[in-house]
Amino acid sequence: MAPTFLVILSAFLLAQSISAQAPPSFRWDHLKPSKNLDWTSCYGSFQCTRLEVPLDYSDKSVGKAALAVIRLPANVSKAEYRGPILFNPGGPGGSGVDTLVTAGPGLQMLFGNEYDIVSFDPRGVSYSTPVASFFLTDAERAVWNAGSLPTSLNASSDSLEHDFARAKLLGQLAAQRDTTKILKYMTTDNVARDMLLMTQKFGFGKLKYYGISYGSILGATFAAMFPDKVERILIDGVLDADAWYNANLTIEATDTDKVLQSFFDGCVTAGPDLCAFYEPTADAISNRLAALTQTIRANPVPVISPVAYGIVDYSLLRNTLFTSLYVPYILFGPLAQGLAALEKGDGSILFSILAQQQPPFQCDCSSDPVPFHLNNPEAVLGVLCGDGVDVTDTVDELRAFYLNAAKTSQFVEFLVGSNRVSCAGWKVHREGRFKAPVGAPNTSFPLLLLTTSADPVAPKAAALKTLAGFPGSVIFEQNSPGHTSMTAPSLCTSNYFRQYFRNGTLPEPGTVCQVDAQLFAPPPPSGPGRRRDRTLSEGDGDEEMLAALKLIGDAVRPVISRKVGR
Ligand SMILES: *[C@@H]1O[C@H](CO)[C@@H](O)[C@H](O)[C@H]1NC(C)=O
Ligand SMILES: *[C@@H]1O[C@H](CO)[C@@H](O)[C@H](O)[C@H]1NC(C)=O
Ligand SMILES: *[C@@H]1O[C@H](CO)[C@@H](O)[C@H](O)[C@H]1NC(C)=O
Ligand SMILES: *[C@@H]1O[C@H](CO)[C@@H](O)[C@H](O)[C@H]1NC(C)=O
Ligand SMILES: *[C@@H]1O[C@H](CO)[C@@H](O)[C@H](O)[C@H]1NC(C)=O
Repeated sequence: MAPTFLVILSAFLLAQSISAQAPPSFRWDHLKPSKNLDWTSCYGSFQCTRLEVPLDYSDKSVGKAALAVIRLPANVSKAEYRGPILFNPGGPGGSGVDTLVTAGPGLQMLFGNEYDIVSFDPRGVSYSTPVASFFLTDAERAVWNAGSLPTSLNASSDSLEHDFARAKLLGQLAAQRDTTKILKYMTTDNVARDMLLMTQKFGFGKLKYYGISYGSILGATFAAMFPDKVERILIDGVLDADAWYNANLTIEATDTDKVLQSFFDGCVTAGPDLCAFYEPTADAISNRLAALTQTIRANPVPVISPVAYGIVDYSLLRNTLFTSLYVPYILFGPLAQGLAALEKGDGSILFSILAQQQPPFQCDCSSDPVPFHLNNPEAVLGVLCGDGVDVTDTVDELRAFYLNAAKTSQFVEFLVGSNRVSCAGWKVHREGRFKAPVGAPNTSFPLLLLTTSADPVAPKAAALKTLAGFPGSVIFEQNSPGHTSMTAPSLCTSNYFRQYFRNGTLPEPGTVCQVDAQLFAPPPPSGPGRRRDRTLSEGDGDEEMLAALKLIGDAVRPVISRKVGR
């Protein structure tokens, strides 16, 4: 995230647009916080409760928080019941509640209806209280966030300086306005403690957990803090937690350029009918993109689209490219179309890719029913910068950091570089918080790690480092570019996930799963009788599982597909 704009590992605002279509909202503020899981029916077949937790587990006098917890209850007899599986959709700061309302039935199909499928808004986030907020009103937040996507640190010669100033401003506001003191206590170690408490309130001693993207940091942190409390921990889109706590995400960009290469290669393979930016070789496509980028840098293009208007400039183009790398199976086709049209002076398709994900002119600025429901950037900075070491870089040091990171990938103008800049403006840190290295010699059950063949922000190198911290754990690979397994459906991957939870089976070392999806796929035929590609081996169960994976993918993609909040 740029300081100005938080470019995160996920896109909350996407989550926001999804939740807008979600079932009717629920008045969390009408639920009384409780020391136990006192469930109330909510969002159709779900149940909700607000669980009281201490703000500071080592000093209960500091005060309390109330976590918004939601479950899709198991639907089996008591004898068959197998307890809760906790789910975190990433972010950091993603709303588990909003995500589960959409993804819940898919997750229950994936893991089995003997489990309660559970999620929660981490402390400080969304429906959990006290909520982190640097802004006095939603309107104030909307104005701060208004106007644009994250700027590229490479947009102009003073982008970094400007972003740093914005980061310092936000850091000062945060420190001044933290009247509830939540910021210090919303770090990942406390969320891990909350997960243990929740598990115990369910009547279980050990955690069953599925976490994606930032959720991998949460899972690994839990395993390091409570190694003997692990029943199952599945992490997917695995980040290097040491890098996270050291506030240096450079390693996370190891495979970013590989994903861009898969755009070039995939376009050649797809051919001109399916890839509008087609050239006969990958190099030719790469050169064509470089030329277009230079043209746009010199001559930004104005666009008026049905959802919004704005300018396709260097930052927007680079942002759109980077965002597409998170979800190649969804965005490579539209990206190619957008680039080809932009060459001809029409920026509308390219502009729409991000504008549709993040409706730029939307602000629900009413204070009813729940103020600050979507509290980005607070949710992100409070966790990301609160977890990390205190970054005291000068502007020159920030520039040196960014240029050094640029040796790893051409996309560190976002995320890697901008997160460092954001955290250099952040001043709220709690003494005694959890620190790297993240690992444990002997967890009570092996962790299962999933990496994709090319993940733009969670490279295989990060997963291997995590694996090294948890001897006995197992890693397997899904052969698809994109961020986490959930950006392309795979019956093979889902079968291993299911077996791991249900009977503890771990994949053989070296296992690679193929996906049931195609890059640059033709648009699905519409109308009655529409069928999926029959070349996939499938029975009815497979059809059902693919539908479940699609549901989960649709729900989590917004949260994991890059956050363009600010
Ligand atoms: C639980 O399962 C029964 C039968 O298996 C089904 O009729 C019912 O709709 C299910 N309830 C929910 C909430 O899914
Ligand atoms: C900034 O952009 C220029 C061209 O647009 C490129 O040549 C240069 O490598 C970029 N710098 C970094 C650090 O990525
Ligand atoms: C950040 O990490 C990269 C490699 O992952 C390393 O080259 C660089 O020196 C680190 N920077 C700082 C400030 O620690
Ligand atoms: C690791 O933990 C398991 C279960 O908690 C225990 O049975 C085993 O003895 C431990 N092994 C070592 C080497 O500590
Ligand atoms: C666990 O899963 C594996 C792999 O599918 C299967 O071979 C084995 O029979 C299962 N074990 C139990 C106890 O269900």
